[in-house]
Formats: sequence, C-alpha cells, structure tokens
Amino acid sequence: MTAFAATPEEILQELATLRAADAPTHGGNVLSYVYDSGLAAVDELAAAAMLAVQPLNGLDPTTFTSVAAMEREVIAFLRTLLGGDDDVVGTVTSGGTESCMLAVKTARENFRGPGTPRLLAPASVHAAFHKAAHYFGLTLDLVPVDADGRAGTAAMTAAMGPNTALVVVSAPSYPHAALDPVAGIAAAARSRGIDCHVDSCIGGLVLPFWPGLPNWDLRVPGVTSISADLHKYGYAPKGASVLLTRGRDRQRHQYFATTSWPGYPVVNPTLLGSKPAAPLAAAWAIIKLLGTAGFADLAASCRRSTAALVETVAGIEGLRVVGNPTGPLFALAVDTSAPADRRIDPHHWADRLKVHGFTAQLQPAFTQADGSILPRTTHLTITPVTESRLAELKNAMVQAGDDVRGVPGIEPQQTLGAVDGPTAALLGGASAITMDSKTARQVLGALGLDGGGLPAAMAPVLALVEALPGDVTEWLLTELLAGLVEPQPLPGS
Ligand SMILES: Cc1ncc(COP(=O)(O)O)c(C=O)c1O
Repeated sequence: MTAFAATPEEILQELATLRAADAPTHGGNVLSYVYDSGLAAVDELAAAAMLAVQPLNGLDPTTFTSVAAMEREVIAFLRTLLGGDDDVVGTVTSGGTESCMLAVKTARENFRGPGTPRLLAPASVHAAFHKAAHYFGLTLDLVPVDADGRAGTAAMTAAMGPNTALVVVSAPSYPHAALDPVAGIAAAARSRGIDCHVDSCIGGLVLPFWPGLPNWDLRVPGVTSISADLHKYGYAPKGASVLLTRGRDRQRHQYFATTSWPGYPVVNPTLLGSKPAAPLAAAWAIIKLLGTAGFADLAASCRRSTAALVETVAGIEGLRVVGNPTGPLFALAVDTSAPADRRIDPHHWADRLKVHGFTAQLQPAFTQADGSILPRTTHLTITPVTESRLAELKNAMVQAGDDVRGVPGIEPQQTLGAVDGPTAALLGGASAITMDSKTARQVLGALGLDGGGLPAAMAPVLALVEALPGDVTEWLLTELLAGLVEPQPLPGS
C-alpha cells in the first residue's frame, strides 16, 4: 500500500491558504492578466471540461482523437470569425507568446532571401516577438510608432528590405490599444513577397464585434497569419490561443518533424511535446456555450464599459487617454496641456487606484529608435465583469486623480540619486557591474526589492526601470523572479 505523506484535505487546505494571497481573478478588481466574463456558467463548464480530459496527452491526436476533434472545431470557429477562407488552416497553441513565436518560425522557414532573416515590426509590438526573434535567430527591426502608439504605413513600408522575412502589425497593440493600419502595411508586404502577421492575441475575439473598423484580419489579402488568444477574450483558462495561417504549404513550416532517433516519430505543430488537452477542451466548451452571439454580447458589454471609462477620464483634469484606443483596453498618460499643478502622473495615479481597490498596470516611458519618447502610462484592460462594477471603478478613478493631482511624477534620475553610495557605485555603469546573481541580490536588497512580493507603491520601481539601462533592469528583474522560486524544502521533510 502506498503511504501518503498528508491527507488530500490537508493539502487542499494548504492550497486554499496559498490562493488566498493571490490577487483576485474574478470580480474586475484586477485590470490586466485576467479576463472575467462575469458568467459563472462559463467558468463551471470550463472546469468540468478540463476535468473530463485531464489525463489526456495532446501530443498524439491519433491516439487521443478527441483532441483533434475539438481542435478542428475551435479552428473552424476562429477562421470564420476572422474572415479566413478555405485556404486558411490553424493550430491551437498554449498562449499568445507561443502563437507569435510559431508565426515567426513559419516565416523564417518560408524565407528564401539572401542573408539573415529579419523581423520587422512597430516598436509597440508585443515583447513575444522580441522573444521569437531571439529564439529563432532573426534580426529585429523596430520602427517608431506615432505619439498615439500607432504604426505608420510609410515608415513600415520604407523599412521593408530583401531580408525581411515577416512584417508584424497589431490589432490592437497591448501598450496603447492602437489598431495598426493593417491593410496598407499588408499590401506593401504582399507586393514585395513578404509575409505579414496580424497579432490580434488580445483583440481577436472582441474586435470582430467592434463596429466601424476597417478590415484588419484575414479579409485583408496580404495577411498571411493571425493570432487570437482563447485565454483572453475567449474567457478560457490560461493555456489556449489560436494561430491561423494562410496556405497549407506555408503552415507546414510551422511543424517540427523528425524520425532521426530510436524512439517514436516526432511530429509537433507547437513548441511543446507532451501537452495538456485541458485548456483546449475548456476553450472548445466555452465556444459551444457562447456561440457567436454570446461573444457578441460580451464584447458589447466591454464596449459600453470602455466608452464609459474613457469618458470618465475625459472628466479627470490632468489625465488623458493615449490616442484612439480600439477594443476594450486603453492607456492613460499625463495631460501636459493642464497647468503643472493640475497634472496627474499616471503611475502615482495607479498606486492610488490600488488603494481604492483596483489594480491597473504601470508601463514605463519608452525611448524609440528615433529619439522620440512615448510617455509613461498606466494600462487598463476591461472585461465584461467591469460593467457590474462600473460605478465603483469610476469613483475610484476620480478619487485617485484627486489624491495625486499636482504631485510631480518621479524623475528617473531622482530615483538613482536616492540610492546609497555602494549601490550607486554598483549601478554606476553597466560595464562596471559584475552581473552575477550575488551582486544582483545586493542591489535588490539595497533597493528594498528583495522581500518577495511587490512594494505597495510601484511608481518608484517604474521610475527605476526608466532610469537604468535596459540590460541592468533585465538582469535585476531576472534575479527578482528567479529568487521567488529558490528551492524551499517541504515542511516536515
Ligand atoms: C497583442 C498581444 N500579443 C501577444 C501577447 C502575449 O500573450 P500571452 O501572454 O498569452 O503569451 C499579448 C498578451 O497580452 C498581447 O496583448
């Protein structure tokens, strides 16, 4: 008989205690990361579907045929929604990052140019494409976006060259919810024989229901692939996205297949080998439950809430919405047309919003390749559940503004000036630092960032991110995250 180390009840109690410390996933208090339909039936069905397929291995849909059956239906649903014809095929992946990475891999394999393949994208493109370029050995060409965070057709076209393997546009972008000019950029790419990917990871299941948009999906002839995340506005648990690709032969480049080992023949459409079927089953079940009309209703709710909140911001002196956000997300920046003593720093504002019960996401200022600066912003992703909390959220936004109006934003250099001598010396110049784990720990300790969780006020942390060279920040944040999972023995072992 197997001896158990603890009872299931004890273990689940411990898990419940751990979960109690998590940010809330439901109820609309957290305005990023989580996508709450507000419908208990959606979550209950997803949980049941996940349980039903829990033991399956998605690696082999010839053995576990339900996996292929569900995937076919999900792909067909998305293909119709995103304007694809019979020439469009697809794959369910583990998430937005994997969909983006596979789109890049496909383009790289499809590339017939003379030198190192290049990936061309607006500076606003999701970091998943930086990762893809890094993993798959493409050179990343980033083109500055305008002050609204939108890509320009002329600038993107001018940057297309003989080694451009893939052009990426966003529908919409994550940082500012900008809908890039898909048709113009895709047409320019097409005339040069370059593939064009639309990253609609966040918009793919809501923009089809947003009225008045120009074509941005597979209806645009030059678009060769598109990504849409089921675990965002498909309301599925994490681990599900769709990548659709135009042309079966193009899409076959996405696969990795080998028989060059003594084991089973490997044929993988995605990055993983063995993989769960649970997120796919949940997404499939939700699509069956909601149907197109259900998604349209939920998108309409997001639209009403987003419009109401954008209007709320218009009434908050000193704060402004960046550009013309398309979809249920937007970014807020300081309104420099207000007198200095009436301006609102979006990061101080986000810290106060948290005190009033809602967590928004702070985004640092960003200097583009041409020297233009996209100001620091605070990002809000709106989901259907927000409509039931609208009055509270509006109040919190207004109050947060009143709390910090006129309080100057933290100057990046000011943050560096505040650190003590030895730490300042450590941070004095990237080349002078020994970028090892021990030094990073010392710096994090001196900055008060080694306590595990995040500090109550995030504005100083973001100012630090703005002040430090990128490679230093990346080194420190890597240490911070790695430190969270330093091995810790089980109690009693
Ligand atoms: C436009 C866009 N692309 C890609 C991603 C990456 O998706 P994931 O976090 O699921 O890997 C996101 C995530 O927010 C996104 O908004």
